[in-house]
Amino acid sequence: MERDLHQLNYDQGNIKLFHSDCIDVFSELQSECVDLIITSPPYCMGKEYESISDDINSFKKLNKKVIAESMRILKKGGSLCWQVGFHVKDSVIIPLDCLIYDIVDVLNKSVDSQSRLYLHNRIIWTFGHGLNAEKRLSGRYETILWYTKGTEYLFNLDAIRIPQKYPGKKYSKGKKAGEFSGNPLGKNPSDVWEIPNVKANHIEKTEHPCQFPIAIPQRLIKALTKPGDVVMDPFSGSGTTAVACVLENRKFIGCEVKEEYIEIADKRINEALNGDIKYRPDVPVIEPDLSQKVAQKPEGFKW
Ligand SMILES: C[S@@+](CC[C@H](N)C(=O)[O-])C[C@H]1O[C@@H](n2cnc3c(N)ncnc32)[C@H](O)[C@@H]1O
Repeated sequence: MERDLHQLNYDQGNIKLFHSDCIDVFSELQSECVDLIITSPPYCMGKEYESISDDINSFKKLNKKVIAESMRILKKGGSLCWQVGFHVKDSVIIPLDCLIYDIVDVLNKSVDSQSRLYLHNRIIWTFGHGLNAEKRLSGRYETILWYTKGTEYLFNLDAIRIPQKYPGKKYSKGKKAGEFSGNPLGKNPSDVWEIPNVKANHIEKTEHPCQFPIAIPQRLIKALTKPGDVVMDPFSGSGTTAVACVLENRKFIGCEVKEEYIEIADKRINEALNGDIKYRPDVPVIEPDLSQKVAQKPEGFKW
């Protein structure tokens, strides 16, 4: 690994991590040099990595700039995946993907049709655990907006198929009667992804307060790029997208402003390169075993 003040290089420069504001890094990157951009921006609601004065207008301003630059550096046919949840204040929520949709809509008006972003899926990322709300329903999903630059694009569905519930199911009538009805490679994972979020005792948990699980960038990378392609994460935090790139043999460019998160990412990237990163594989969530005591209703519970 080479290190200067602002840039860390790993694996002969295939993985690059900038300790910088992403806006400064974008200004160094030429147009149409990246195959996929995956990120989760700050939600601007008082996290330890946000300024106390950040609010929903800061979110709009920052995302307008970063998405405009992302559109410029993305290759035609490449993908942009924006993972966001909700801005919450006093039990009032703003769905951040609606704001992102509007930002892209406006930016699209200033470019030609093959440089526009086209939305293909609004993926619901659902998870079983989180804060229990008192004055509204507990939030158990966030979203990922998947756009492509232009209308011709790469989508490798076979790379992300998941097991069928009933693989032994057969056609009951017609020409194929008696044959298995499912795809032997598995089924389309759909636009609802159940993947545990990275909380307290998750195997991937670091000191970063808002990691997404490796399985999220890993799935997107497998479906939307080829080995050797370049992936960028402008808000790379603990380096989750970088780790997914190492696991899937893609190149990576990432940016992070906070030194302590750069250190966490540095450790994780080295672990991934050495083959000893611990992570939860992208497999279906285990259903509770009803024979276990913890799954049984204690006396006095009313439901
Ligand atoms: C929601 S977190 C991303 C977490 C990441 N997906 C992970 O799995 O660790 C957003 C990150 O963006 C960083 N950040 C905020 N503004 C930035 C900027 N202008 N340039 C680069 N990083 C920034 C924050 O410090 C924070 O770590």
